[in-house]
Amino acid sequence: MKSILLVDDDKNLSETLAELIDPKEYRVDLLADAPGTVDYIRANGPDVVLLDVNLPSGSGLELLKEIKGIEGAPPVIIISGYVSTDNAMEAMKEGAYEYVTKPFQMERLLVTIHKATEELHASTLAKRQVKPEMLWQTTPDITSEVVDTHREIIGVSEEIVEIAKMIGRVAKSDAAVLIFGESGTGKELVARAIHRNSNRSDKVFLSVNCAALTETLLESELFGHEKGAFTNAYSRKLGKFELANSGTIFLDEIADTSMTTQSKLLRMLQEQEFERVGGEQTLKVNVRVIAATNKSLVSAIKEGKFRIDLFYRLKVVSIYLPPLRERRDDIPLLANHFLDIYNKATGKRVEGITSEAMKFLAKYSFPGNVRELENTIQTAVVMSKNRVLEVDDLPIAKDRRELVKIDFDEIKDNYYQMFRRLLEPIYGKIYQNSNGQIYAHIQEAFEKAVIGLTLQQLNNNQVRAAESLGISRNTLRDRIDKYGIK
Ligand SMILES: Nc1ncnc2c1ncn2[C@@H]1O[C@H](COP(=O)(O)OP(=O)(O)OP(=O)(O)O)[C@@H](O)[C@H]1O
Ligand SMILES: [Mg+2]
Repeated sequence: MKSILLVDDDKNLSETLAELIDPKEYRVDLLADAPGTVDYIRANGPDVVLLDVNLPSGSGLELLKEIKGIEGAPPVIIISGYVSTDNAMEAMKEGAYEYVTKPFQMERLLVTIHKATEELHASTLAKRQVKPEMLWQTTPDITSEVVDTHREIIGVSEEIVEIAKMIGRVAKSDAAVLIFGESGTGKELVARAIHRNSNRSDKVFLSVNCAALTETLLESELFGHEKGAFTNAYSRKLGKFELANSGTIFLDEIADTSMTTQSKLLRMLQEQEFERVGGEQTLKVNVRVIAATNKSLVSAIKEGKFRIDLFYRLKVVSIYLPPLRERRDDIPLLANHFLDIYNKATGKRVEGITSEAMKFLAKYSFPGNVRELENTIQTAVVMSKNRVLEVDDLPIAKDRRELVKIDFDEIKDNYYQMFRRLLEPIYGKIYQNSNGQIYAHIQEAFEKAVIGLTLQQLNNNQVRAAESLGISRNTLRDRIDKYGIK
């Protein structure tokens, strides 16, 4: 028979558990508080421990650390009375087998208990990797980047809790992590959280935006260059890999690297070595790599623009950040979080968000994800003259109303503004799905829409349509065929 140790002062839970489990399969022992738990485990060796986060004498997460210090410690399932991404992250980081929140589905808890006792003590297997011996080492004399004030991961959705757990699980290993998700979903935030929870947290975290630079400049940024390596290389420059030695590097927008840079990155990931641009000396460093992309690397691979071997090297662990519209439970919490932040930042005292405005936010599609929500609240706080934020204070609500009210006489001369506004809400999606083809895709769709609408307006009279459009009838027929316009 297997034994479960439940450390929790919540009577309800112990009673439900006792009712649900098969007494022939498990024995449940109860402890209502932390003191004595470690001794109990040493003496009795339970197969699994269920541990509450809030114990009368203190934090269950502290107790978790002690339990994990016992040789051959049993798997520990952390139980929390409320959803907390921080607790989820911390629990997994300290080696918990699982993190579940009350009220939970009992079925699921039973499955977890079952798995934990089957995969006997799997969670105690050493996860730490051996660090390679350094041939060459410097500890750069730069302190970690600008202090960012609000780096807590906010959310209560199942999705965000899974992400927090994932961060906790991978943080302490040196494994490369690939983070993917639409623009503004929090990729950089997650990368920083991984670093902060890793064994490298007292070392630097450097970030490089791979899309912002040309091939030569990006390579010089990453690997450094020697004096005279190229025009304007007036002196030796150390690259980010060198500067991030023993720390973490964040390669943002990794899809936008050239094939040449990709092969250098591959070597860096495989051997942890490289040469400065124009240099001969091979340098060896110990850098943990976290990469992010908002484009599909799979499509890029299919199109021959991304190396598959690099892809596998980067995604030893991959974390997907779902768009905000797919985890709407997080919207109210995030909105209030940003309200706090921008109240503090601006010295304003906006007390809250009306339920009508909150409803608007909860339904809005947020093509720009969390960043768009943040910008919305920021603008609203800055501009608001009221005690609370109303729908009218939200720029996204205003934009939408203005779009409906567009005065075409006025805007005739200003198509640019209008199209920009029309495209903006869906641009993130277009960007994501049109790898290197944005122009072609938009132009085609635009042409098709204009021709289709004109024909509709003129009851499919092609002569008049060609006239109004200002194109020849041949061109019109050609486009109708090409786009299959009915
Ligand atoms: N879960 C979250 N809790 C709190 N703040 C968040 C969360 N997710 C994102 N943010 C905030 O939203 C903003 C955008 O996040 P971040 O820069 O990490 O997104 P990203 O995925 O890197 O976007 P991009 O692809 O545009 O670079 C940041 O200010 C970040 O702090
Ligand atoms: Mg980013």
